[in-house]
Amino acid sequence: MIVTTKKLFEAAYGKYAIGAYNINNLEQTMGLFRGNLMSEAPFIIQISKGARSYTDKRMLQALIKAADEVFPEAIFAVHLDHGDEETCYDCINSGFYSSVMIDASHESFEENIAITKRVVDAAHAKGIVVEAELGQLGGVEEHIQVSEDEARLTNPDQAKEFVERSGCDSLAVAIGTSHGAFKFSGSQSLHFDVLSEIQKELPNYPLVMHGSSSVPQEEVARINKAGGKLEGARGVDASQFKQAAKLGVTKINIDTDGRLVWTRVHREHFLEHPENFDLRKPGIVFMEEYAKFIADKNDKLGSSGQLDEVRKMIG
Ligand code: G3H
Ligand code: 13P
Ligand code: ZN
Repeated sequence: MIVTTKKLFEAAYGKYAIGAYNINNLEQTMGLFRGNLMSEAPFIIQISKGARSYTDKRMLQALIKAADEVFPEAIFAVHLDHGDEETCYDCINSGFYSSVMIDASHESFEENIAITKRVVDAAHAKGIVVEAELGQLGGVEEHIQVSEDEARLTNPDQAKEFVERSGCDSLAVAIGTSHGAFKFSGSQSLHFDVLSEIQKELPNYPLVMHGSSSVPQEEVARINKAGGKLEGARGVDASQFKQAAKLGVTKINIDTDGRLVWTRVHREHFLEHPENFDLRKPGIVFMEEYAKFIADKNDKLGSSGQLDEVRKMIG
């Protein structure tokens, strides 16, 4: 069942975070639904602009609709990840997405508010909720590359004004994470002091953490051993997710880790089975491994076992 992120955040606030997972294809979709049902967790499907244009935006939509029928027990939101204004309107008018992110974080404070407010007005008119971003993460997203020096942590003094004036339903904050597989050029640290200040300014308001893949070192080692070249890759310490949830983080975005699972499975498969040319063979392994990965991540987020509670809340 497709619900808004707002509904999921009401259930989760202060207790746990909901996993927001990016998908691009059939195998990820199957693994995602299986893993969330295995761990009895509500979840958020994220679709980026790149994912929409990988084949045709209608293809992912059709896959998710089919998955909703195949897995009727699942409760999830369908969310546009890092949208620009035009893509937000396209999703709002699609009648399919329950939530969009407008990412105008690279604009000035005033321009970010103005753009976000326009999207909020259009979305709310159709019962769709909006995530916005204040501050700037490092790393690569869509076609924008932000170096760690250019990254800006969210200013807690601006957060409340931003939310009040833009009307956004949740806020992505920059507290030290970055996108991709190479995070933290210095020591890994999340700025819980900044997060705590933001929560004081915005009590009971859902916050979002992007760039939260943990880039498991075992995964990186297996990829490198099977011919990959990911030396120096590292990510967020997943044992800090629950602490973040207590400070108001209700949505944690994970994409890179899923890509690492895909890379490891396929590299190992073809190394061990050089004679194989049936794409379904590694596909089957990937769907199983991805499902296990999702279930394990949900344990770390605290969302495992919460599905019944959410179902009761939704009624
Ligand atoms: O933040 C970006 C997400 O990881 C999506 O990546 O734009 O390559 O699909 P993508
Ligand atoms: P990762 O690159 O850490 O997986 O972050 C994903 C993300 O923030 C998607 O919006
Ligand atoms: Zn992101």
